[in-house]
Amino acid sequence: MQWLWTSRDDFERDLADELPRGRVLAPALAIGDAPASGAEPPVFARQGFPIAAEVAANLEALVAAIRPLVPPAPVAYALHVWVPDSDAANRLSSQATEFAEAVTNALGPDGARIVRAHELYDPDAPIIQVCLTESGRAYVGAAALSRTASTWPGGRARMKIPSGAPSRATSKLAEAIAWIGYGPESGDVCVDLGAAPGGWTWLLLRRKARIIAVDRANLQPDIARDRKVLHLRDNAFTYRPAEAVDWLFCDMVWKPGEVAKLLALWGQKHWARYLVSNIKLPMKRRLDTVNDVKRVLIAGGWRELRARQLYHDRDEITLHARR
Ligand SMILES: C[S@@+](CC[C@H](N)C(=O)[O-])C[C@H]1O[C@@H](n2cnc3c(N)ncnc32)[C@H](O)[C@@H]1O
Repeated sequence: MQWLWTSRDDFERDLADELPRGRVLAPALAIGDAPASGAEPPVFARQGFPIAAEVAANLEALVAAIRPLVPPAPVAYALHVWVPDSDAANRLSSQATEFAEAVTNALGPDGARIVRAHELYDPDAPIIQVCLTESGRAYVGAAALSRTASTWPGGRARMKIPSGAPSRATSKLAEAIAWIGYGPESGDVCVDLGAAPGGWTWLLLRRKARIIAVDRANLQPDIARDRKVLHLRDNAFTYRPAEAVDWLFCDMVWKPGEVAKLLALWGQKHWARYLVSNIKLPMKRRLDTVNDVKRVLIAGGWRELRARQLYHDRDEITLHARR
């Protein structure tokens, strides 16, 4: 069975290149053979599912395609109707919302078991998905919770950041921690390389961590004043920690190869137990760049390395690893 995947707009070629027998279907959409069981979702995938049916995007056809995917009672399931994140397809988002409501009503008592995907706890519980395309067709399928790339419709993990956060970068780290499934805890020591104006440090403070913020630029004044923050106006490439820390965070707009070498050094020296880093991607050879960075980090001793272009990532990806 083939799988449909969605990416950030303009990353569908990179996504297709990651898939077995992958090809681009439309902006932000790619299709390929089923991934190996237990495989991590592709780096450039926001969401994906096995295609059970391709139908005309009308209520009758959608309900007929969805009904066989509904699990037997009393198992709860989720229903996501989404559009790829391209300019043309985003115009259909209100239609997606209307279809979700109409399908739920049309399913009758079966629809009563639809819950939010975040509320599913059974790893086998299905997330039934409908992807509406610009061409008036819809792809329908279902993947078990344990095999879906995201619990957000179309993988659009919109993080609501409270006012007071100094930069949009806060959303990137909030999403990264949700994706990883754990994060710094009270009293953990974090190094934040490229910390200014302080969006990541701000979030780490909310988690009651202590932060060494390394950046020549200014932090937002209230963050710089916090007694749990030590602001060092150093160059991240020459800064060395006085002792090992719990977490290394890195969010510098710099050449991926050089950032990867720096992170690998931290791995070799055991300077941190956990790594979260954003890597900016070039315009070309993006998948090759990701693979090169991964190789350098693994050579540096980082384990359980995961990489993903998260919803709040632009021309960049997020990495996580442990030492
Ligand atoms: C995208 S911003 C970081 C945003 C930050 N994570 C936040 O949440 O507010 C990149 C930062 O990296 C810093 N930077 C770039 N090169 C650096 C270097 N060699 N050493 C330290 N900081 C650097 C820049 O000064 C800039 O403040």
